[in-house]
Amino acid sequence: MDRPAILVARAVFPETLARLAQHFDVDASADDRVLAPAELAERLRGKAGAFTTGSERIDAALLGACPQLRAVANMAVGYNNFDLAACTAHGVLATNTPDVLTETTADFGFALMMAAARRMAESERFLRRGEWRRWSYDMFTGSDVHGATLGLLGMGRIGQAIARRGALGFGMQVIYHNRSRLPVEREAPLGARYVDKATLLREADHLVLVLPYTAASHHAIGAAELAAMKPSATLTNVARGGVVDDAALAAALRERRIAAAALDVFEGEPQVQAALLDVSNVVLTPHIASATVATRRAMAELAATNLIAALGGERPPNLLNPEVLGRAAG
Ligand code: GLV
Repeated sequence: MDRPAILVARAVFPETLARLAQHFDVDASADDRVLAPAELAERLRGKAGAFTTGSERIDAALLGACPQLRAVANMAVGYNNFDLAACTAHGVLATNTPDVLTETTADFGFALMMAAARRMAESERFLRRGEWRRWSYDMFTGSDVHGATLGLLGMGRIGQAIARRGALGFGMQVIYHNRSRLPVEREAPLGARYVDKATLLREADHLVLVLPYTAASHHAIGAAELAAMKPSATLTNVARGGVVDDAALAAALRERRIAAAALDVFEGEPQVQAALLDVSNVVLTPHIASATVATRRAMAELAATNLIAALGGERPPNLLNPEVLGRAAG
């Protein structure tokens, strides 16, 4: 019997490739390049499945060029690289990798927030430059994290995990804004208070972004929102580039309209705007919030499980567009 052919668009753990090879004819990326859209369409032509990362765009043009495609499995919880409506229209099952990265990503978001508040990257650069001559009473004074007000824009799994760290570990007051309010029994153990966006911006000492990137969340934080924040506040983005207007943020940081920021994701990454590279009061990391060995393995395994189920006629555990199954059954 013919085995389905799949493309593994980027390099991945050898054991994941070996597992996929037990089920599929695997075309694996040898050099881990991000394929240009035309090249991706070319490599996917005739294939039934794709194992992707957030770097590969799966849209109507690609789906139109690859009519044999039946499933796309993203090794990421975010899936803004998928045009989900187009996947559904083409009958392509789409999956992501939630849950397995929640705690790891929350650890990193919290660490970034602390790094911004306590000026860790900025002071380390100062030390490495050989500029440290003496102790001074106000050298790199930042703001406290313990006891401060933690503001979360977005309150899904990762937001709640960050809130838990803040409330239970650091005695923070948690306020949040989200499309929907959490049930009271989820809010209560965190002491979390649901507020409108204006209150969130006005009251947060440390604002952390953990919302999905959609047309509605594009530039959710821009010049007006930054102007509404406290001058002493920090902003941390572990969501997606595009949620923040990076140029507006760079200007706000340069003019000290907010104290500091920490960013793991960027508009147009892996390019980072020169204006952000030029300001000192920002911590910049290369989209690594989920990057522990254990979690990246778990994500790869889950993406493989999803693809094996989808192409094996079973319901994948993390199916994003169940309508496709309904239609096939009908
Ligand atoms: C990483 O950014 C992810 O969405 O998993």
